[in-house]
Order: sequence, then C-alpha cells, then structure tokens
Amino acid sequence: MASNRAPQVIVTADTEEFARLAAERLLARATQVTGRVAICLTGGASPEGLYRLLAGEPYRSRVPWDRVHWFMGDDRFVPEDNALSNMGMARRLFLDRAAVPASHVHPVTAGAGRPDAAARSYEAELKAFYGRHRLDPARPLFDLVLMGLGDDGHTASLFPKAPALDETQRWVVGVAQAGLAPFVPRVTLTLPALGSTREMLFLVTGADKRAILARVFSGEDLPANRARSNGELVWLVERATT
Ligand code: 6PG
Repeated sequence: MASNRAPQVIVTADTEEFARLAAERLLARATQVTGRVAICLTGGASPEGLYRLLAGEPYRSRVPWDRVHWFMGDDRFVPEDNALSNMGMARRLFLDRAAVPASHVHPVTAGAGRPDAAARSYEAELKAFYGRHRLDPARPLFDLVLMGLGDDGHTASLFPKAPALDETQRWVVGVAQAGLAPFVPRVTLTLPALGSTREMLFLVTGADKRAILARVFSGEDLPANRARSNGELVWLVERATT
C-alpha cells in the first residue's frame, strides 16, 4: 500500500520562507482537483506560521474554502476551547477567520466518554466522508496530510514503542497515556489512515529539533520514520533545524 519512494527534503532559509512554501504546497493540493478536497492538519507550534498565513492575503483569496474539508491528525482529549486543543488552535489562527463552511471543519469530539469512544466516532466520520470502509490505495482519503515531529520522534500522537504504531485495521485510536507533555489522553489517526494521501508533508522548525531530525534522517526506527504516504512524502525543514 505504502509508496517506497524516497522522501523529498526541502530546506528553507528562515521561518517566513518555511510558512510560505508550506502555504504554496497546500494551495497546490487544494487547487489540483476540481471537487472536494480533504486536508488533515497537525498540532504543535511548527504549523502556526502556515495557519496565520492562510488567514491573510494573498492566501485567504486563493484557497477554495467552499471545497476544502479540514480534519486533524491527532488531538488532545480536551474541549476545543481548551488552550491544549489542536483544532481549537487551528480555528483561532485561520479556520474562524476565513470563509469556511461550519460543516467543513471536522474536529475530534472530546465531549463524552473516553478517548477510544471519540476515536471510534471520528473513524466513523472519516469513513462516511470517504464513502467506504476500506482504504483503497488508488483513491487516497486525503489530498494533503500535515505532520509534526516531536522531540522523541513521535508524530501525530504515535509515540515510540506505542502499540498504536502497529495498528493495521483501525483508522483512529485512543491514546490513554501520552509519551510526552502535555500528558493528557489523545486521539490519533493511525499510520494506514495518515498514509492514505496524495501528499504527506512533515513540518519541522526550530534549532531545538536538530538532534531528533538528525536521528530521523539517519534512519532510526522512530514513529516519524514509520510514516509512509501513498503519494509524495516531503520533509519541509528550516535551515536552523539541519
Ligand atoms: C500534538 C501534535 C504533535 C506535534 C509534535 C511537534 O498534538 O502534540 O500533533 O504530534 O506535531 O509534537 O510539535 P511542535 O511543532 O510543537 O514541535
């Protein structure tokens, strides 16, 4: 299912260029098809510059907001108005500032029950959106999946040595115990669901990520290195991180 193509690495001069290139890639994916577009966002600090850019010109006028659906690759199991919520952050930075139809934002709902119940309901939502219960490599779930890199090599909420890394059936799982701060339960897409995309774009900024990025690029068995894409796999990194 997964593509074995070597990842493409793009190094940007600074954070401004980093956010601009990320926005251009997102725009290219959003405009390459004429129908519905599915974009899976990521949390953390690395995408913040991108999200801010999307809320302003020229991107605000160029994104086909009426055709794009926004999902989240992982979220903390907290209400959206909690400062730790990834979807809450994306809403504050751009989704609430652009002409996004309310039904096009697909948050993980942390309202009731436990993370695993929220994971099952998010999986059902993804399957209803996709229109099938099995992923077909010829028809990716997403047009673009954004990914982050944690200090321990985690991506989404897939932490080193977590059983969720080996999941082959479920599209979304609950994570009772986070491997890194903030230590709140999480809900995360699994590798097969994240990999069902035309493009997977890792966003890594900051000098504090230099050591873990070197470990990833050396091929160490870390969650971020387990991620595969049906389509392109691109690492966008800042020069300060290399
Ligand atoms: C989360 C994130 C997580 C994040 C990485 C990188 O909810 O914690 O989705 O996977 O992407 O930890 O975070 P930074 O961009 O802040 O370094």
